Amino acid sequence: MKLIIGADHAGYKLKEIIKAHLQEKGYDIDDIGTFSEESVDYPDFAEKVASEVAGGRAELGILVCGTGIGVSIAANKISGIRAANCSTIFEARMARAHNNANVICVGSRVVGDAHAIAIVETFLTEKFEGGRHRRRLDKISEIERKWF
Ligand code: RB5
Repeated sequence: MKLIIGADHAGYKLKEIIKAHLQEKGYDIDDIGTFSEESVDYPDFAEKVASEVAGGRAELGILVCGTGIGVSIAANKISGIRAANCSTIFEARMARAHNNANVICVGSRVVGDAHAIAIVETFLTEKFEGGRHRRRLDKISEIERKWF
């Protein structure tokens, strides 16, 4: 599974931790930055990750900022992206099983490192359930077509 990860300065350290863990587990993961704690603007990194996923060049995306909120708002502006900001394992499970989310957002100032890893791993291993949830996602796509 091809993954893509990105973060702003607030998420940089946690991004490195998540990336190292996933590489150790054998995931193929591209890192689009940022590569230091120097202040940057999170929409730039959210757009890069989301556009790679929307374009089919990565299956799933991971975004980290201070809260996970900014990157999720930005990523969700890209057509075809369902970015879920998750601070619990339950949310990560539901984001895949019910919402077929294709980007997970994590807040480095919200969750601890070990918890963040568990959240991301849950997201990567859970499967979309389809069925009634597919109908609801089709409605989200209709909203996108109307408003984007
Ligand atoms: C950066 O200070 C912070 O605003 C950003 O990482 C994020 O939390 C925005 O939603």
